[in-house]
Amino acid sequence: MIEHLLPPGVAGAHLRDFSTAGPLPAAEETSLGPVGPARAGEFAAGRHCARAALSALGRPGAELPRRGDRAPGWPAGTVGSITHCRGYCAAAAGPTVSYLSIGIDAEPNEPLPAVVLPRISSAAERRWIGAAPGGVHWDRLLFSAKESVYKTWAPLTGAWLGFLDATVTVEPAEITEVAGAHVTGRFRVALHVPPPRMNGVPPRGFDGRFLALPDLLLTAIVLPRPGAPGVREGMS
Ligand SMILES: CC(C)(COP(=O)(O)OP(=O)(O)OC[C@H]1O[C@@H](n2cnc3c(N)ncnc32)[C@H](O)[C@@H]1OP(=O)(O)O)[C@@H](O)C(=O)NCCC(=O)NCCS
Repeated sequence: MIEHLLPPGVAGAHLRDFSTAGPLPAAEETSLGPVGPARAGEFAAGRHCARAALSALGRPGAELPRRGDRAPGWPAGTVGSITHCRGYCAAAAGPTVSYLSIGIDAEPNEPLPAVVLPRISSAAERRWIGAAPGGVHWDRLLFSAKESVYKTWAPLTGAWLGFLDATVTVEPAEITEVAGAHVTGRFRVALHVPPPRMNGVPPRGFDGRFLALPDLLLTAIVLPRPGAPGVREGMS
């Protein structure tokens, strides 16, 4: 499913049943530290998906220990992202020759707790959420998009990004209903903090894609390396 949101050259993999993920290599187990079974299960599922995505890129058998900033340590020459929520886990990976950073996020297609939306959104974001068509919990989709923004931003900059440091917009014209309850589209991200310079070109923001299923929301941002031939996804 995450694969539907990724451009050519970026591999994705997902898992619904976390119990099918294999055991962790020792370096990953050590980097996780002592945790309960639920956390161990989602971590192993994420690494399973990351290994599957990397295998599809021709990099089988990779190990991704958890770094000090909690991000996965992707093998040299690759960037990627991992997400998990109840009953769904996914990873995406691409080559650094073409892509600078990737952020993906999965959330249940359920309303956000009422106290959360005012903390993570601006008035402008709440306006488009209020006007958007039914069938999707757009408040949760906004949250997911912002988690994808952070996962794209943090490995590039090593810096924190707060929920109000970026504005996410979904234009009605960029929402498409595909077969039945599947809704897909694009979102735009305006950054309100100085962005990282990429080969001397500061992007104004990121572009992302989303997919809404009856039980699941997925968002993804794939940031191209400026000047990489034939690669246009993710940056405005
Ligand atoms: C890190 C964060 C984005 C994770 O998102 P989440 O929805 O809670 O959880 P997900 O399951 O989708 O993602 C967790 C995975 O994110 C990855 N991750 C964690 N820290 C990361 C970082 N600094 N950079 C990139 N990826 C990171 C890890 O792979 C982690 O899974 P793992 O520990 O099993 O490897 C979130 O906990 C957070 O700190 N958010 C606050 C910052 C933010 O979102 N700002 C909004 C900017 S507009």
